[in-house]
Amino acid sequence: MSPSTDQEQAPSCLLKDVGVMRFNKEHMRLASYVAEFQEVVDTLKTREAIIDDWRHIDALFGRILKVASSHFKAEEEMMSSQSYPGYESQKKQHDKFLDQMLKVQDDIRGRKIKFKDDFKALLWDWLINHINQVDVGYRDFFKNKS
Ligand SMILES: [Fe+2]
Ligand SMILES: [Fe+2]
Repeated sequence: MSPSTDQEQAPSCLLKDVGVMRFNKEHMRLASYVAEFQEVVDTLKTREAIIDDWRHIDALFGRILKVASSHFKAEEEMMSSQSYPGYESQKKQHDKFLDQMLKVQDDIRGRKIKFKDDFKALLWDWLINHINQVDVGYRDFFKNKS
């Protein structure tokens, strides 16, 4: 058997069902964008980025931020309208993540970022962990409400 990392698996295998079809779809979309982004930056651990790499990175990162912020907003609206008790802590995590991502985007725009291993933890691991440990918490709550 050849060694494989989590990232080489299809995102859908890694993500738990959170019970809301729309959010499951958004999670998959987001994970596949993040996987694509991570693939690009992984190649830059061993060489310097050229202008085409930066263009690609700018586009991918912008897309991730856009999709993530609209997804978070939709989740928060649903949680708040249903008085979900985990709303506050979800919102805090979402806001903190977006804050960090905006800082990363600044560094990317300033071309002053090094894509080391800890970068994967910041983006990929955070996302998978958030979906599978935190988002999954609203599955039964929403199910029982509907
Ligand atoms: Fe989510
Ligand atoms: Fe969330």
